[in-house]
Amino acid sequence: MLIRRPDHIRPAEITPRPFYERRRALLKLAGAGSALGAAGLLAAAGRAAEPTLGLEKLPNVARSALSTTEPATAYKYVTTYNNFYEFGTDKDDPMQYAKRLKVRPWTVAVEGEVERPRTFAIEDLLKFPLEERVYRLRCVEAWSMVVPWVGFEFNALAKLVQPTSRARFVEFVTAYRPEEMPGVRLPVLDWPYVEGLRIDEAMHPLTIMAVGLYGEVLPNQNGAPVRLVVPWKYGFKSAKSIVRIRFVAQQPKTAWEKAAPNEYGFYSNVNPGVDHPRWSQRRERRIPELFAKRETVLFNGYGDQVARLYAGMDLKKFY
Ligand code: MTE
Repeated sequence: MLIRRPDHIRPAEITPRPFYERRRALLKLAGAGSALGAAGLLAAAGRAAEPTLGLEKLPNVARSALSTTEPATAYKYVTTYNNFYEFGTDKDDPMQYAKRLKVRPWTVAVEGEVERPRTFAIEDLLKFPLEERVYRLRCVEAWSMVVPWVGFEFNALAKLVQPTSRARFVEFVTAYRPEEMPGVRLPVLDWPYVEGLRIDEAMHPLTIMAVGLYGEVLPNQNGAPVRLVVPWKYGFKSAKSIVRIRFVAQQPKTAWEKAAPNEYGFYSNVNPGVDHPRWSQRRERRIPELFAKRETVLFNGYGDQVARLYAGMDLKKFY
C-alpha cells in the first residue's frame, strides 16, 4: 500500500513505490525459499507438493466449487511478499517481525447492531465448516497472487449474532499491540487498521473469514489467526488479525480512506477502468513474474457473482 507523498517533493522526483518495492522485493525473494524449514510437505489433492512452514494442519477441510482453477502462487511467495504495516512497510518486514505477534489466546468480539453480541475464541472459529477457497488476490499496487485460503463464509458467523435491520455496514477492527508490532510506533496509518464493507458485500458467499492457507493455520504475516478475504476488491480490504467486528448503521471510515481519501475509496472494487491517481490499474503482475503483462479484469474476474451488488452505481464516483 502507499501513502500520499509529502507536498514538498516534486512528482518527477519520486519513483512510484510499486516500482522500487518490486526491485527490492524481487531481489530478496530470490533468497526467500531458504526461510522455509525442512518442515511440512503438503500434498493436497490435485496440487503438487508444496514446501510450507509446517504449521498446524487444519483437519476436515472441504473443497469449494467457488475456487479458481488457476495455478496457486507458491507458498514461499504468498508468505514472504506481504503487506502488514503493523510490522513495517517493506514487503519482507511482516515475514521477519510478525513472529512477535502472540496469536493464542485470541478472541474476536462481534457486536453493534446485532441481537446476540458474542465473543468468539479462535477455537470457536476453527469449528466452523472449513473450506479451501482458491482465490485470486489483486493488490492495489498492481500485483496479484492466487492463494488457497482455508476459511468459512462470513455470513455463517453473522447468522449466529443476528444482525438487526439497522445494520447496513460491517466494520472490521484489527489488533493494535505496540509491544508486539514495531510498525505501529510510526504514524503511518491511524491505528488500529480498520476496514469496512456494506452488509450485502459482507454477507456475499464469496466473502470469507480465513484461518489458514495451503491446508495449515495462517502464518502470522498473512494475518493470523483470522483475517478477511474479499476476492473482488483490492487486497487491502482483507483486514488481517481481526479482534472486533461491528455491525453498524453508518458507513465506517477505513484506515486507508483516512490516510488518503483521494487514493483509496470505501468500495475499492478491482476495476481496470478506474486508475489510481498515481498509476494505471489496467494490468497486473502475477507474483513472481517481473512484468505487469496480465490484463486486470473488472471485479477481479468475479463479476458474474458480484456485479449485481453495484447495479446502477457509478463506479468512478464510488471507487
Ligand atoms: N491488514 C492489516 N491489519 N494491516 C495491513 O497493513 N494490509 C492489507 C491487507 N490487510 C494490511 C491488512 C493489504 S495492503 C494487502 S494487499 C493484504 O492485506 C495483503 O495480504 P497478504 O500479505 O496475505 O497477501
